[in-house]
Formats: sequence, C-alpha cells, structure tokens
Amino acid sequence: MHVILIAAQKGGAGKSTLAAHLSTLADRDGKTLLIDTDPQGSLSSWRGRREAPTPHLTRANAQAVPEVLSTARREGVAWAVIDSPPHNSSLISTLMSRATLTLVPVRPGPFDLDAVGATLAMARSLKAPIACIINAAPPLMRGERQTSAVAETRAVLTSLGAPVLPGQVSQRASLSHALISGQSVDEYDPHGRATAEMVALWQTTSELARTLPRHA
Ligand SMILES: Nc1ncnc2c1ncn2[C@@H]1O[C@H](COP(=O)(O)OP(=O)(O)O)[C@@H](O)[C@H]1O
Ligand SMILES: [Mg+2]
Repeated sequence: MHVILIAAQKGGAGKSTLAAHLSTLADRDGKTLLIDTDPQGSLSSWRGRREAPTPHLTRANAQAVPEVLSTARREGVAWAVIDSPPHNSSLISTLMSRATLTLVPVRPGPFDLDAVGATLAMARSLKAPIACIINAAPPLMRGERQTSAVAETRAVLTSLGAPVLPGQVSQRASLSHALISGQSVDEYDPHGRATAEMVALWQTTSELARTLPRHA
C-alpha cells in the first residue's frame, strides 16, 4: 500500500481540493481509501455529497491513524490518500512518518512560501520524502510554458532545497464546482484543461510513489 499524505501548514493551500481530485484518479489505479484527519472535515462533506460508492472515506485522529492504515493494508487498499489540517505539527509529523510521499500544495506568492519552511524542516528531520506542487497558479496562455509567478515560486522553493514537481495546477473554477456536486474534476469536465493537469499530477505522483519504499 502506498500512502500519499497531502500536507501544508497553511490553510487554503489546496490540500482538500487535491485530495478529492487525486483520490478518484488513484481509485482507477487500485483500491483507494481517503483518510480525513482534519477536524473541519471538508473532504468528509464532499464524500457525503457524492453519489459514487468509491473512493471510501474514513475519518481519523492521530491515535487512530496507525490502526486505520493497518486495516486498510489488510483489506487490500493500494492507495491511501490522507488529507490533513493546517497548524497541527504533531499530527502532521505522525502522518508524515507513515507516508510513502508527502505532497505539499503551494500557492504562488509569499505567504505559502513562508509556511513551506516548517513542513520542509519536518520532512528533513523525519527523512520523509516530500514533493511540492504549485497550486492555484495563473493559467498558462497558449504556447506559454510557465508564468513568471510560477517561475519565481519554483525558484524560491528550489533555493530552499524543496523538490518541486513539474507542471502546475492552475486556478480554475471547475476544480471547486466539481466538488460542490460531490464529483471530481475528471468526472465533472472530462475533457477540460483542469482535468488534464490533475491527470498529469496523479501520473507524476504515482510514478514517484512507486519508486519509494512502501510505508505505514
Ligand atoms: N487550483 C484551484 N483552483 C480553484 N480554486 C482552488 C484551487 N485550489 C484550491 N481552491 C479553492 O481554494 C479554497 C481552499 O482550498 P482547500 O482545498 O479547502 O485548501 P486547504 O484544504 O489547504 O485548506 C477552496 O475554496 C478551493 O475551492
Ligand atoms: Mg482542507
């Protein structure tokens, strides 16, 4: 079982959004369990609005996570995708130490970058694999490979020593509209650009996770 933790110390970075959209893509690759560790329960509300039976979701606090993960492994779950709250470093470090890979959404701009330092330091001390993904970036114009905001963010992250995945997740209304109706973007707008970016992100993330030792 591969465990993908989505973490960022900053609220609003896009953790729950990415967890929801990536989970349905993960589910096509293998049995997927979403684990909502955020007391706010955004992902649980999404699951509640969802008609499709999968992916399954369970809520868990720090104490319950080890048991949830070992049950999932016994039940043949291939991908556990964990959504986490901001501002709870002891919970995040428990989760990070059990994750195959921690994915950190970072919005272009100074505030998310400030918060990345703490997550990065935690990953270093736990020797936990981590990868940043730039989220809610300005959409690319035709022929453009990278906007200046994204290039700057990527440069700062790289200078901090943070691995950054290629590409970006753009700011697109379909990513939130899909969630309102309990869908993921690939279900809501299968041929849209937001879907293409999310599929590319899942491909990169899952390929990376497969090269890493399994955990939990
Ligand atoms: N790429 C994106 N495009 C459009 N809206 C986004 C994007 N990422 C996040 N959002 C919106 O930003 C807000 C915060 O995202 P959320 O996933 O709840 O963050 P977090 O879980 O990190 O607190 C939500 O309203 C969500 O719909
Ligand atoms: Mg959230």
